[in-house]
Order: sequence, then C-alpha cells, then structure tokens
Amino acid sequence: MGDAVTPTNTRFSGQIAVVTGGASGIGSAVARRLASHGAIVAMFDRDEAQLQATRDALSDEGLSVGATRVDITSEESVVAGIDAVLAEHGRLDIMVNCAGVVGPTNTKILEYDSAQFDQVCNVNLRGSFLMTKHAIKPMVQQDYGRILLYASIAGKEGNPGMCGYSTSKSAVLGLVKAIGKEYAETGVTVNGIAPAVIRTPMVEAADPAMVTYMTDRIPMKRTGSLDEAADMTAFIVSRECSFCTGAIFDLSGGRATY
Ligand SMILES: NC(=O)c1ccc[n+]([C@@H]2O[C@H](COP(=O)([O-])OP(=O)(O)OC[C@H]3O[C@@H](n4cnc5c(N)ncnc54)[C@H](O)[C@@H]3O)[C@@H](O)[C@H]2O)c1
Repeated sequence: MGDAVTPTNTRFSGQIAVVTGGASGIGSAVARRLASHGAIVAMFDRDEAQLQATRDALSDEGLSVGATRVDITSEESVVAGIDAVLAEHGRLDIMVNCAGVVGPTNTKILEYDSAQFDQVCNVNLRGSFLMTKHAIKPMVQQDYGRILLYASIAGKEGNPGMCGYSTSKSAVLGLVKAIGKEYAETGVTVNGIAPAVIRTPMVEAADPAMVTYMTDRIPMKRTGSLDEAADMTAFIVSRECSFCTGAIFDLSGGRATY
C-alpha cells in the first residue's frame, strides 16, 4: 500500500492533517500517504478498535499519526476532535473526509427502509457538512487550507439499487461547489473526488451483483487501487493544487467523462 517513508518525501512537512474514516480503506491509505510525505495526521473514526489497529500499524512504520474516536454525525464529537487537534498543534492545514457508509445495496426504493435512508444521509451528507464547517474556520484564520470531500460516481450517475447512497453523494457535490465558491477569495480550497469502484471493506460489504454492475461500467475494465486514490488525494490537498476550488475530481477509469 503505497511508497516507503524516505527523507525526500517532504511535500507536507510541517502540515497538520485530519483524515476521517482513517481506520479503514481509502481513509487509512490517505492517512498513510500524507504522513509518509511529512504531515502529522490525526485520524478520526467511530470504529475505535479498528482505528487503534490502524494507528498502531502506521506508527510501527515510523509515521506521525494520532487516532481520535469521532462520530462525524455528531457536532459535539466533531468540534471536540478538531479542538483537540488545534490544542495540540495550533493549526490545521488539510482535512480529507473519507468517512462514509454505503447503506442498502441492490434495493429498490419500495423496499428501501426510510430509517436507513436517513442514516446514510446523516453520515455521508451531514457528516461532510459538519467536518467542513468546523475544519474551515481555523484554515480561514490562517489563510491557508485544503479540504477534500469524498463523494462518488454514484452521486454523478445515480446507481440503481442504492438510492440513499447516490442521493447523499450527489448532495456532497453541491456542498463542495457552494463552499468552494464561498471561500474562493481566501487561501482555502474546497474540492471533491468522485471515485468509481476501489476495493475496500465498503465494497466487500455491497451486494456482489451491485459490484459487478458498477465495475462493468468502467471503460478501463478494472477497479481502482488504494494507491491511485491516495495519489490523487495527495495532489488535491497539496500546495501545488492552488487554482482549483469547488471542483469534483474524477477517479473512475473513464466512467465519467464530465
Ligand atoms: N470504495 C469505493 O469503491 C468507493 C467509491 C466511491 C466513493 N467511496 C467513498 O470513499 C470513502 C471511503 O470509503 P471506503 O471504501 O474506504 O470505506 P470503508 O468502509 O473501508 O471505510 C469507511 C470508514 O468510515 C468510518 N465511518 C463510518 N461512519 C462514520 C461516522 N459516522 N463517523 C466516523 N467514521 C465513520 C468507518 O468506521 C470506516 O472506517 C467513503 O466516503 C465512500 O463513500 C468509496
């Protein structure tokens, strides 16, 4: 999973990053990549056991990573998590929101439980809103910051059988576009990323017929890798990515050409 820690990987030296969903999948790959390139990374996740296991594994590699149990649907929990980072490090340069849930798959609206719809939107949309709202404040004060929200190709195209997930991710696209414009005259950028299928525990939990449906629609005829997600993420949250805000970056092997 990714390149080794070397003294030349100093792209994020001196920078403080928060990565939500850091316990698993894309979030842990992103945390590892940013820390490998010099950032001090605070991983937020609600799965405490998995979070500690990931933190231990990354620490064993010599990476500067911390782990805090944060539920991104709770404003109190989000504020406490970010305040703790600010108290310890005095600044926040990068926030990547990877935490998310897929909810029901291969389930048409008539069978789709309303409470589960609320739950999926609560994590994927309200969580994105809360993390952005509370991460952007110190970034604006220091006139520098990079916010990246994980959306999905499902939000652009709408995957049948996944109406909660598709709807919540579509709303994340709107959030990115609005907030990006709100802060365009500051040093803070707000962007989104829309991946197609990347093999992670989330995909393993989806109905296999759904995964086949989604993968068959990728012109490259393969799934994306964690390294490819980490590579694109690292660029979007770097200083070099300075003339992009309110944008949705594509990571779909050609599925979305818009
Ligand atoms: N894997 C894919 O193919 C794919 C495709 C498109 C978009 N995405 C998006 O990428 C992001 C990462 O997905 P992944 O595949 O790595 O998933 P994953 O299931 O491996 O990891 C998601 C993490 O989010 C955490 N989480 C869930 N709810 C939370 C909450 N309320 N508060 C804090 N943490 C919470 C989970 O505990 C888990 O560690 C998600 O937003 C997902 O929707 C993934």
